[in-house]
Amino acid sequence: MWRHMAKSVQLLVDGKPHDFPVVTGSEGEQGFDITKLRADTGLITLDPGYGNTGSCQSAITFIDGDKGVLRYRGIPIEEFAGNPDFIEVAWLLIFGRLPNQEESTRFRARLTANAHLHEAMKYHFEGFPADAPPMAMLSAMINTLGCFHAEMHALKGDELFEEAAARLISKIRTIAAFIYRRLHGLPYMYADPKLRYCANLLHMMFSMPHDQHRVDPEIEKALNLIFVLHADHEQNCSTSTVRMVGSSKANLFASVSAGVCALWGPLHGGANVEVLEMLEQIHKGGLTADNYIEMAKQKGSGVRLMGFGHRVYKNYDPRAKMLQGISDRVLTKLNVKDPLLDIARRLEEQALKDDYFVARKLYPNVDFYSGIIMRAMGIPTSMFTVMFAIGRLPGWIAHWKEQSEESTSRIARPRQIYTGPVDKHYVPIEQR
Ligand code: SDX
Repeated sequence: MWRHMAKSVQLLVDGKPHDFPVVTGSEGEQGFDITKLRADTGLITLDPGYGNTGSCQSAITFIDGDKGVLRYRGIPIEEFAGNPDFIEVAWLLIFGRLPNQEESTRFRARLTANAHLHEAMKYHFEGFPADAPPMAMLSAMINTLGCFHAEMHALKGDELFEEAAARLISKIRTIAAFIYRRLHGLPYMYADPKLRYCANLLHMMFSMPHDQHRVDPEIEKALNLIFVLHADHEQNCSTSTVRMVGSSKANLFASVSAGVCALWGPLHGGANVEVLEMLEQIHKGGLTADNYIEMAKQKGSGVRLMGFGHRVYKNYDPRAKMLQGISDRVLTKLNVKDPLLDIARRLEEQALKDDYFVARKLYPNVDFYSGIIMRAMGIPTSMFTVMFAIGRLPGWIAHWKEQSEESTSRIARPRQIYTGPVDKHYVPIEQR
């Protein structure tokens, strides 16, 4: 539906009109360009959390939060469900179109050739405490990886970019597996060149020298779809962080390492861990789902219904819907009866008919069901956000590349409104 498209917006400042051009996106979204606002009016905008502020124009992912729509380079995510292929989606996000057969074969060969880490990196894992947070290890090891690939710090041209993307996407998987092995005191398992991306990750995590982990094709397909559903989400907190760090011309490894830290937060990617802890607390703590919902509604309780709500989606997160379907299939396939899934279902059922959640348009988000599936696969809660980072990496790379190719790209440097003391003077210590 096409509504009237404004061409400009007029601001009256002290009675003087100032016109600002309106930018219209390919899906009809509109924003007015305030690049000249401060120069023309002396004013800045104030928008804590950037809920109303566009940081860039991007051709990678489109979200319609009111309709619950998510598209990667124009393709609805639902269309990937039949035959989910994380590596194909990674190429689509990074290079703007689905790969042809030659490109697909070449990129997969690069992933296979780059599955190993420099042997010296193994000793870094030993330097972490046995109970180190996996996301701290992941962020540190991605920056460490950059030390071993200095030739990838200045990325000129698609050929070099394709190699860098392949190295990061392949090696983040090995780093994640080695983190798991380090935390469990297990020997490192190397990638098997005969296995595809997701099966290789589960092999490196769960095989033993005497016993190769057999990956059920259904589980491999479910993990592919989980990664596809996490692959990008336009200007979320961690992707905006990658763009912010990249805007200073920091290299791709440093920018991604920063994105990992942003994703770690419990309000962002860390929510998948919080959801499981919430479900466990209800399951063990004698709290019912209804008790928990009542607590989450109390201001100041410090309790939120984790995995619920979203800055953009004011309708069901389409990923949550698809992940709910995967959870049924995986638990059935693995013959797992998880009481936490029943609790999650009860929470969702109760919240979706509770005025507090309905009035605030709070629905399950991507983190609500993902943990239940990964837990059924044998992935420990502590590794959930690491798995989210593996999935989100192609999106981070795509946005870093898109920004680096913009001729108008400038270093990100927001303004502020100063509220501190005025006109103070230095007082020597003997007079304080
Ligand atoms: C991800 O941005 C992305 O795209 C992120 C992501 C991605 O793919 O990259 O989709 C991944 O991070 C998903 C979100 C995971 N986080 C959680 O599940 C944590 C629980 N959710 C919330 O903390 C919250 O909903 C956020 C952080 C997701 C969104 O926060 P907003 O947009 O800043 O909303 P808000 O905190 O201003 O809340 C608005 C109102 C408040 O009540 P009032 O002050 O109006 O009375 O809704 C309430 C909030 O108290 N509220 C909740 C709630 N979420 C919001 N109340 C109870 N439980 C919740 N989960």
